Amino acid sequence: MNEVHRLDGQTAIVTGAAQGIGQGIALVLSEAGANIVIGDIQDASNTLRQIEQNGGRAVSMLMDTSIPSDAEALVELALSQYGTLDVLVNNAGIDAPRGTIWGLSNEEWQRTIDVNLSGVFYCTRAALKPMLAVGSGCIVNISSQAARAAGDPNGSPAYNASKAGLIGLTVASSAQAAPKGVRVNAIMPALVESRDFGWSPEERAAQIRPYPLGIGKPGDIGQAVLYLVSPASRWVTGTALHITGGYERSGPWF
Ligand SMILES: NC(=O)c1ccc[n+]([C@@H]2O[C@H](COP(=O)([O-])OP(=O)(O)OC[C@H]3O[C@@H](n4cnc5c(N)ncnc54)[C@H](O)[C@@H]3O)[C@@H](O)[C@H]2O)c1
Repeated sequence: MNEVHRLDGQTAIVTGAAQGIGQGIALVLSEAGANIVIGDIQDASNTLRQIEQNGGRAVSMLMDTSIPSDAEALVELALSQYGTLDVLVNNAGIDAPRGTIWGLSNEEWQRTIDVNLSGVFYCTRAALKPMLAVGSGCIVNISSQAARAAGDPNGSPAYNASKAGLIGLTVASSAQAAPKGVRVNAIMPALVESRDFGWSPEERAAQIRPYPLGIGKPGDIGQAVLYLVSPASRWVTGTALHITGGYERSGPWF
């Protein structure tokens, strides 16, 4: 690997890395040399095992990103375990219930905003304290193409709103943190096959059709994160990368 993409000696928090895209991000950053700290509401031992089998170092804790004290505890774990915090990847997120905005309950709306938007704020605020103290660090927020497109008529308005809010949070925090040496960027993935979606062969074919490069894999997002947290992107902040397999070029949605 090119030296400009190495993260040796650095520490990276990845939220929601027990499975899916977060697991793919954690594996890529570990292969680049980073110590990994995972915060997830479910057990992350599967990811820890894979990292250790590859010769990497990782720890995890059970936590909920939507609880401010949990976010603080996750940052404290990174500092106590490895002594530094260089990277925060805000990946943890939930799919809100699908349906109309007029059928959405207060509870469904609130939980989606709490996890997908407030949780990112809590983790970012906690991570910025040690990062600003040393004058360096990189934060990546995993948004979605849903930030700018409804997707389908039976989509999820709360999810769209939460992922669009992340773009605003990225822009605002990047502007404030850049003069202090911290970069903040976002990624807007299209469909990533992060787990078994239970598709029939026909459903799978229909899902893949709008993707000239096929559907994404968790490692594809991991590679984009690696670019955004490595010195290769030293002049990049406040941006949102569209990592989509060419999806937006082939359909009528945009
Ligand atoms: N899969 C896709 O097609 C896709 C596309 C665009 C964006 N995204 C975004 O990428 C991220 C990961 O998606 P995924 O498909 O891997 O999802 P996933 O459901 O497979 O994994 C999400 C992980 O986050 C954890 N998590 C959920 N709520 C949490 C909380 N409150 N605190 C801590 N951990 C929590 C889960 O336990 C799980 O391990 C999400 O933010 C999602 O919105 C996914």
